[in-house]
Amino acid sequence: MADHAILAGKRVLLVIAGGIAAYKSLELIRRLRERGVTVRAVLTEAGARFVTPLSVQALTEDTVYRDLWSLTDESEMGHIRLSREADLLVVAPATANLLARMAGGMADDLAATVLLATDKPVLVAPAMNVRMWQHAATQANMALLESRGVLRVGPNDGVMACNEYGPGRMAEPMEIVDAIAGFFAAESHRPLAGRRAIVTSGPTHEPIDPVRYIANRSSGKQGHAIAAALATLGAEVTLVSGPTRLPDPAGCKVVHIETAREMLAACEAALPADIAVCAAAVADWRVDGASDRKLKKDGGDPPALALTENPDILATLSRPGERRPALVVGFAAETGDVLAYATAKRARKGCDWIVANDVSPGTGTFGGSDNTVHLIRADGVESWPTMPKDAVATRLAEAVAGYFEGK
Ligand code: C5P
Repeated sequence: MADHAILAGKRVLLVIAGGIAAYKSLELIRRLRERGVTVRAVLTEAGARFVTPLSVQALTEDTVYRDLWSLTDESEMGHIRLSREADLLVVAPATANLLARMAGGMADDLAATVLLATDKPVLVAPAMNVRMWQHAATQANMALLESRGVLRVGPNDGVMACNEYGPGRMAEPMEIVDAIAGFFAAESHRPLAGRRAIVTSGPTHEPIDPVRYIANRSSGKQGHAIAAALATLGAEVTLVSGPTRLPDPAGCKVVHIETAREMLAACEAALPADIAVCAAAVADWRVDGASDRKLKKDGGDPPALALTENPDILATLSRPGERRPALVVGFAAETGDVLAYATAKRARKGCDWIVANDVSPGTGTFGGSDNTVHLIRADGVESWPTMPKDAVATRLAEAVAGYFEGK
C-alpha cells in the first residue's frame, strides 16, 4: 500500500461521470479529504443523476462545477483555470462514454473540456458493464489514452450492478486513494532527472527490394517498457524504435527507423547521453545491394541474396571516447548457456552491463509479456525472478538510478 503521508496538501480535481459507481466517489472524496487533499469536483449531467450536487458540495466544501456555460461558474473559475489549478485530475467513475470523448478530444461539456484543456496528469477509474469494457472501441480508446500518458486504476472483476460478472467494477475508493498516493510518490522520485538516455527497441527491417525485407520476431515490448521506466524516473529519453505494433510510450522522444544503419544514425544524433540501453533486436546482416526494383519470378533460379554485416550499435556506442555514455547496457538473448555467452558478450561489445535472457521456444519471451533475466555487471551476476516486462524495466531503471547515485 502506498504511503499516504505524501497526499497532504495535494489538490485533486475529481470528475464524476454518470455511472452507478458514482456513489463510491462520495466515499473517495471523504478518504482523500481525511488525508489532507483538497478536492474540487466536476459533475457531468449524467453524473448528477446518480449523486446529488448537494452531496458532492457538502463533502468537498466547495462549489460543484457542472456547466460549461454557467456565468457564475465561469466567473468564479473558468474551465482553463479549473483544469490547471490541480496537481492531478481523477476521473471516477470514468464511463465508456467519457473515455470515448477523451480519446476523441471532444469538448462538449465541462468535464470533457477540462480534460482536454489540462496540462496536468490524469488518472481514470473506469466503471461500466463488462461488455462495454471489453468492447473493441472501449479497449482501443483506453489504449490510446494510456499511450498518451493517462493513468488507470481498475476496473476490477466482480458482480456488477447489472448482475453480470467480469471486469468493469470501479476500483474501490481506497484503491483509488492508493493509486493517487502512488502517483505522487512516483512523481517525487525522479533520481534520473537531468540525465539523458538513449534506448533502442524493436526489430530492424532490412530491405531485399522495395516490398520485401528481412526481419525478426522482436515485439519491442521490453525496450519500450525500459524507455518508459527511465522517463518515469526523470530521464530525458530518446527511444529509437524499429517497426513495432506498440504505441509510442508517453514522456519519451521517439525516433522511428527501419534499418540498422538508420538506427545507428539516430542513436548518434541523440548523443551526448549519460545512458544507452540497446534492447533492439538489430538484424546482424543486411542484403548487400538491395534491389531498388521488385525482384521478379522469371522461371529461372531463385535470386541469391548476398548478405553483408550491419554496424553493431551497442559496440559502437560502447567504444571509449568523449561521447561514450557513462553507462551502456546491452541485451543478450540466448537459447542455452545464457550466462556464459552473455558474459563473453559483455566483454566483446565493451558495454558495462548485459541483461541476459533465455529466448528458447517455450519460454514465451519473444512477444510474450514476461521475461526472466540476469543482470551481468563487472562485479557479478544478479538473477531476477520471472516478472512482467514492465517490472523488469522498472527494476532495470532503478538499477540505473542506483548506478548514478553511487557515482
Ligand atoms: O550480438 P548480439 O546480437 O547477440 O548482441 C545483442 C546486443 O547487441 C543487444 O543489446 C542488441 O541491441 C545489440 N546489437 C546492436 N547492433 C547490432 C547487433 C546487436 O546494437 N548490429
